[in-house]
Amino acid sequence: MSTARFYDGLAATYHALYPDWEKEVHEQARALSKLLGSPAPGSAIADVACGIGTQLLGLAEAGYDVFGSDVSRAAVHRARAECVKRGLVAHVVVADMRALPWPDASMDAAICADNAIAHLLSDDEVTSAFDELRRVLRPGARLAVTIRDYDAALRERPYGTAPQVMGTPGLGRVITFQLWTWHGASDIYDLEHFQLTCEDEGAWKTSRRTATFRAYTRAHLLELASGAGLAAAQWLTPRHAEDFQPVLIAAGPTRETPHPT
Ligand SMILES: C[S@@+](CC[C@H](N)C(=O)[O-])C[C@H]1O[C@@H](n2cnc3c(N)ncnc32)[C@H](O)[C@@H]1O
Repeated sequence: MSTARFYDGLAATYHALYPDWEKEVHEQARALSKLLGSPAPGSAIADVACGIGTQLLGLAEAGYDVFGSDVSRAAVHRARAECVKRGLVAHVVVADMRALPWPDASMDAAICADNAIAHLLSDDEVTSAFDELRRVLRPGARLAVTIRDYDAALRERPYGTAPQVMGTPGLGRVITFQLWTWHGASDIYDLEHFQLTCEDEGAWKTSRRTATFRAYTRAHLLELASGAGLAAAQWLTPRHAEDFQPVLIAAGPTRETPHPT
């Protein structure tokens, strides 16, 4: 199953991954804005794997000029609908993060949040995404990339995640869990994502979707970010970042240090 298909299938129920998605929208925007150096209202912020808008909506509500993109058509469609529902304006398009649709040096900040980068399965693919992020950032503009704690996962090589039971407005109780199958001793794994919803009294429906991920260590991503010409790359741990995942912070090119070719 392609990544886009995986998220197309999940778009309608993605919010059920959180105990309270609306609260998450506000809290993540507040934390991200701080991580990005509290850009002035009206600043242009790119969200390059925006999904249904978990970060984008709060950032738009905070007064930023938000440009979202994602490979999933259904997620983009829902992000647009969520904007309309809230009376927000954001520019959301279908695009791969390795070929961003915006001009050079057009963004005051950028984000790539919640493990989207782990869908890119090779160093070359991640380097292409970082190259594109560097290209669209103004000199010195900040980038925040959040990713699962794969340093821990590579030590433990888990078989999956424990079931979470959420009470979700409009959907009732939703049970979500993942099964992981590692490709031998490598850092690649196939993920089976299960979501169980109760349609009628006792009639549970199971949706299963699959995607492939690569478990990047923090040192590995830091090396790829620096190699792509992103400046001052460093990791912040969740406690410091007020986010649930480690955050890679970097900056667009300085005028003095253009991208090494
Ligand atoms: C876990 S979701 C996070 C979405 C959003 N940031 C959020 O937190 O709700 C990962 C997102 O990455 C997107 N994605 C995966 N590979 C991508 C690529 N190559 N280019 C753009 N988006 C991609 C998926 O479609 C999905 O929406």
